[in-house]
Amino acid sequence: MSEARRTIILKVDCEKPERKKIELAADVIRRGGLVAFPTETVYGLGANALNSEAVRNIYLAKMRPMDNPIIVHVARREDVYRLAIEVPEEAEKLMRYFWPGPLTLILKASEIVPRITTGGLDTVAIRMPRHKVALALIEASGTPIAAPSANLAGRPSPTMAEHVIQDLYGRIDVILDAGPTNIGVESTVIDLTFNPPQILRPGGVTYEELKSVLGKVRVHPAAVSKSEVHIEKARSPGLKYRHYAPKAETIVVEGEFDAIVKKVMELARKHIGEGKRVGILATDESLREYGLGVVKSMGSRSDLSSIAKNLFKLLREFDDEGVDIIIAEGLPQDGLGLAVMNRLRKAAGYNIIEAK
Ligand code: TXA
Ligand code: MG
Repeated sequence: MSEARRTIILKVDCEKPERKKIELAADVIRRGGLVAFPTETVYGLGANALNSEAVRNIYLAKMRPMDNPIIVHVARREDVYRLAIEVPEEAEKLMRYFWPGPLTLILKASEIVPRITTGGLDTVAIRMPRHKVALALIEASGTPIAAPSANLAGRPSPTMAEHVIQDLYGRIDVILDAGPTNIGVESTVIDLTFNPPQILRPGGVTYEELKSVLGKVRVHPAAVSKSEVHIEKARSPGLKYRHYAPKAETIVVEGEFDAIVKKVMELARKHIGEGKRVGILATDESLREYGLGVVKSMGSRSDLSSIAKNLFKLLREFDDEGVDIIIAEGLPQDGLGLAVMNRLRKAAGYNIIEAK
């Protein structure tokens, strides 16, 4: 088990990160410690990606299964050529279009990457985040930084430093707090060892954007599935674990908007009738329809980016308020909706109801 650690929390300016604070955190990374830091997607829990012992401590602090590989964050493109042995043309194109940004590339790993970082795979996941604090930290550390989301395994990803504190205070060395993250869902993970490239996890860069740059791109069936899909171990181990799970039982209601609202209402009444505390994850368009339960809006259906930004925070809020059951409205799957629905379905353990 990971021993108790004294956790230092440092507030950092997200536009002009204070040098001294970044240097302090970078020093912790260089000495093999654990630093939580903001990215444009969610907060990450970082360690020196090339130091096996440091990376091992990430798994312990998060209580993450050791076969679930970790994304390596870089601040310079040159590092990709040290971490990967093959960088296909498509990868270079994607880096030009989307880096820094919420896109993670899966490439064949070079031998400088410890196998604990790749969860035992011969591929490595690499991304360059679009956040000044993250980039400053990686540069100052002088090493690529391995960082999964900074939550306890299975919990919703952290979009604010407060979430990191909830899950990891006393288990890690430093938390850099630069306020809420911008995108709110994690990066898109795309496997370039496949032809055509395959999206393993939908995220901040959309399918439509990738398609317009690459021409051809596939989506792994598990990423869009409405039920648990058996995953070959050798592909993306992360796909097989329960994720983003609030403590409350969660149901997603999918279908046409009007039918969804009717069904959510019916389910809410039924569960309240059974004496349960019900949370409803609604949208701005439906917020006023439900006069019962604890109702929260994810944002407007016409602005899926606002919904992506709020989702994980709201799942945690329902937990804090101790609801017994969360009933969530399904959303359109275009743009960021694909990533949001992927997270919602997983949070619900694929407990999906079709509204007719
Ligand atoms: O936005 C993000 O990606 C955030 C920030 C901190 O960068 N990070 C993040 O990391 O979400 P994590 O560990 O929570 O999710 C990484 C995902 C997992 O599903 C993992 O299985 C997959 O990427 N992954 C990592 N390396 C892989 C590899 N070599 N092959 C296939 N999948 C891989
Ligand atoms: Mg995660």
